[in-house]
Amino acid sequence: MKEFITKNRSLLEETEELLNNQIKLEAVSSAIYLSMASWCEIKGYENSSAFLYGHAEEEKMHMMKIFRYVNEAGGHALQPEITGIPSDFKSLRSIFEDILDHEIDVTKSIHALVDHCFSNKDFTTFNFLQWYVTEQREEETLARRILELFDIIGEEGLGLWTIDQEIGKLGATGITSTVSPDQA
Ligand code: FEO
Repeated sequence: MKEFITKNRSLLEETEELLNNQIKLEAVSSAIYLSMASWCEIKGYENSSAFLYGHAEEEKMHMMKIFRYVNEAGGHALQPEITGIPSDFKSLRSIFEDILDHEIDVTKSIHALVDHCFSNKDFTTFNFLQWYVTEQREEETLARRILELFDIIGEEGLGLWTIDQEIGKLGATGITSTVSPDQA
């Protein structure tokens, strides 16, 4: 098929590769959270499950924003291959500990990408990524806030049931969506 889009572009090949890596990381996030949502659902943690189903969708949106950006910038967004997602988890608390660790890794990846763009004077991609910088701060805050519930409420007796209720309320306040995707 005839190519009708000029190959001239500002996007560096290395930046395109890093953006494709970030696409994969966001897709992995979505897959992990979907798996966690399913585990919570079968264990009876209904609010945590609903929260994580929503979060899985949010991560897919994160992936798609970069996916579309890469192609619009003249690159080629690659559908990532995702394998090795766990389906069993130790406890509700371990799920949110894993989420905090994972989100800190995502933050580091975004920061490395931002640093790369700034060093290479790719201010367009640098600007695009600022939405993710803000989003990551919010995601880490939310994970920490949920983990605090386990210490404040405790897991004995009705503790886990109460924690699940509180996670539902935190999800409903939409702390993760104070930055609208439309603002990007
Ligand atoms: Fe899109 Fe939670 O990282």
